Amino acid sequence: MADLRTRYLGLELQSPLVASASPLTGSLDGLRKLEVAGAGAVVLPSLFEEELATGQDQVGGDPDVGRADQAGYGAGPAAYLSLLEQAKASLSIPVIASLNGTSRGGWVRHATRLEQAGADALELNIYYVSSRPGLSGGEVEENYLDVVRAVRRAIGIPLAVKLSPYFSSLANLAGQLVEAGANGLVLFNRFYQPDLDIEAMEVLPALELSSSAELRLPLRWIAILHRRWGISLAASTGVHTAEDVVKVLLAGADVAMMTSALLHNGPDHLRPVELRLRDWMDRHRYETIDQLRGQLSQRSVPDPATFERANYIKTLASRTPPRR
Ligand SMILES: Cc1cc2nc3c(=O)[nH]c(=O)nc-3n(C[C@H](O)[C@H](O)[C@H](O)COP(=O)(O)O)c2cc1C
Repeated sequence: MADLRTRYLGLELQSPLVASASPLTGSLDGLRKLEVAGAGAVVLPSLFEEELATGQDQVGGDPDVGRADQAGYGAGPAAYLSLLEQAKASLSIPVIASLNGTSRGGWVRHATRLEQAGADALELNIYYVSSRPGLSGGEVEENYLDVVRAVRRAIGIPLAVKLSPYFSSLANLAGQLVEAGANGLVLFNRFYQPDLDIEAMEVLPALELSSSAELRLPLRWIAILHRRWGISLAASTGVHTAEDVVKVLLAGADVAMMTSALLHNGPDHLRPVELRLRDWMDRHRYETIDQLRGQLSQRSVPDPATFERANYIKTLASRTPPRR
């Protein structure tokens, strides 16, 4: 039977299927179900720095406050740390905490707390929409690097950075993030784009789940970044099926993260995905994940330019309009 073990952020995982941050990973019950269904690791929902401003920061205060098993969004840091501690006590798979901060001080203070509460690794979810015309791309990137450097100095556990795909030179930024101390990249977060209600004349916050069609973006960048700087790579966005998992592993990912598929189908969705992954590996005579990882990365394919501009015109021309 195929061996699904993989390494991510220096951690040994029994499977490359990882549950990314979502409401499912925000309760002990959800986390347990994910482990039983076969998750190799779990990422808790982000602790948002804004939550600290709401007066819910009870850490070190009343011990009864926040002793819930449900961290939820906006539940505050005490409930979050409690969930993390309980998850560590009752799960045997790695538990990755996630932090979304807005100021340098906030990131560092909370990264330290999450490390102390037992997180196996930390994911920095840098979700920042820069709308100030005066702020250059270089300055935005410098802010990212500044945060990563500061957090790296403060903690010893592995550090992953979850990025959006909207950068002019992602390969350059990736290299700088590694230099700043990142051990892994999660490619990519999904920005939730607001919609307009044209009857009520309102802006609507819109959150739609992904589909497998969105896999192409992480697939390309994982293929490009595979085996550069020895960094761990996690694919996020559009991983729904075993075929999607095979694709990101062939491109060079260490793990395949899922949120939308698990929210839509429930934690047990991991079971058929794992079965079909094993089945594909058996049919293609791969015994380990190491053997197949990166087989179709940019360095491994005969024409590396296919991941860049090559065949652009041919691909566009192949979409000819139907004859009338
Ligand atoms: C309801 C919901 C909540 C999410 N919460 C978080 C979060 O707290 N932190 C984070 O980094 N990503 C969060 N995400 C993003 C997911 O972890 C994931 O990166 C994204 O949905 C793309 O993966 P998918 O195509 O498998 O859904 C959330 C996504 C959804 C749908």
